[in-house]
Amino acid sequence: MRMVDLIEKKRDGGSLSKEEIQFIIDGYTKGDIPDYQLSAFLMTVFYQDMTDEEITNMTLAMASSGEMIDLSGIQGIKVDKHSTGGVGDTTTLILAPLVASVGVSVAKMSGRGLGYTGGTIDKLEAIPGFQVELPDEKFIQLVNESHVAVIGQSGDLAPADKKLYALRDVTATVNSIPLIASSIMSKKIAAGADAIVLDVTTGEGAFMKNIEEARRLAETMVRIGKLANRQTMAVISDMSQPLGEAIGNSLEIVEAIETLQGNGPEDLVEMCYALGSQMVVLAEKAATLEEARGLLEEALASGKALEKFREMIRNQGGDDTIVDEPARLLSAKYQIELPAKSTGVVQKIVANEIGIAAMLLGAGRATKEDAINYAVGIKLHKKVGMPVKEGESLLTIYADSENIDEVKELIYKNIEIGDSGEEPVLIHDIITL
Ligand code: URA
Ligand code: CA
Repeated sequence: MRMVDLIEKKRDGGSLSKEEIQFIIDGYTKGDIPDYQLSAFLMTVFYQDMTDEEITNMTLAMASSGEMIDLSGIQGIKVDKHSTGGVGDTTTLILAPLVASVGVSVAKMSGRGLGYTGGTIDKLEAIPGFQVELPDEKFIQLVNESHVAVIGQSGDLAPADKKLYALRDVTATVNSIPLIASSIMSKKIAAGADAIVLDVTTGEGAFMKNIEEARRLAETMVRIGKLANRQTMAVISDMSQPLGEAIGNSLEIVEAIETLQGNGPEDLVEMCYALGSQMVVLAEKAATLEEARGLLEEALASGKALEKFREMIRNQGGDDTIVDEPARLLSAKYQIELPAKSTGVVQKIVANEIGIAAMLLGAGRATKEDAINYAVGIKLHKKVGMPVKEGESLLTIYADSENIDEVKELIYKNIEIGDSGEEPVLIHDIITL
């Protein structure tokens, strides 16, 4: 097989066979096919699209390009959850104990964050003592005994995706549905998921700028999940403003605890029920989304979900007394209120820019080597659609320095107050196919 012939075939609108796709992914991962040929290939995919069968074959080839995690030692159906990107997205921290408390096995391997705020693993490390690195046997034992463990990604998961993503980033081919779908699904399959729940976010700063594109991506991933024997469901959600109120590592742990105590922000709670219900149905612990939601509401109201979070922290060596005294985690030197400059209604809070503001405070990494400051971040008091008076606090900045004029300016630039504004629709669609 010659790469140039495959590029030509795709360029002229043809479909590639399983063997041809395997040849491309293997060849590129090993370094036998050069960047310039892969770049040309990616651009033809960008313009010509791919069939579901092609995307499925590409997904499976990428998944098996490195280590495939074997979770067969864990009883039951292992359901994983993935978001295409959010700011202040605390859902995983809540969902893991919430769905585990109704008997769903959550064997979660999460990543660290780059940019914005930390990833789930960084957030968990804000809990004193919490171990995110466990030997495989211990990880599997904990999930079997307690239904939940969350650890950092180790090893060499889907190296083809890492290489391809880096190339897409510099060839203007990130924003292609077959390439995004195969990138996301390959990592979930390599991580051992039997079933997958996807949160496809839309809005300014998200990968998918509008609902139609988001729906196409979600439906594509649900269809290829089925073809790859991984039942998949998706929620299409709004990420035009940050989810919940907290952005920052310790702040989000506190927000997760408050949510599990029954005092969470409405939008965050709703997202957790929407995604959690799909996880429960896919794990076959309920027959319908409605029944699943009932189980989750009961687990939250009874305190069962909060107890599961405490158990998870204890199991992984963390200080579980923070569940009773979450405020201890908020150790930033300064808490600075940001007053509204005018009276009106909040019209816009640009999610990704607020994420950058949190990163500038030290809550995220600008480069892989940066250390994270767990204590800093932002707590929103006003969200889109809420009335505000001049001088009233829009949000609190948790900082370790008083020198934050740049951050304040960035935030002011990205919060609009006007005459009228409406609370955005949070969940645009539920895709189950
Ligand atoms: N997230 C991924 O993991 N891959 C993409 O291509 C886009 C978003
Ligand atoms: Ca949040």
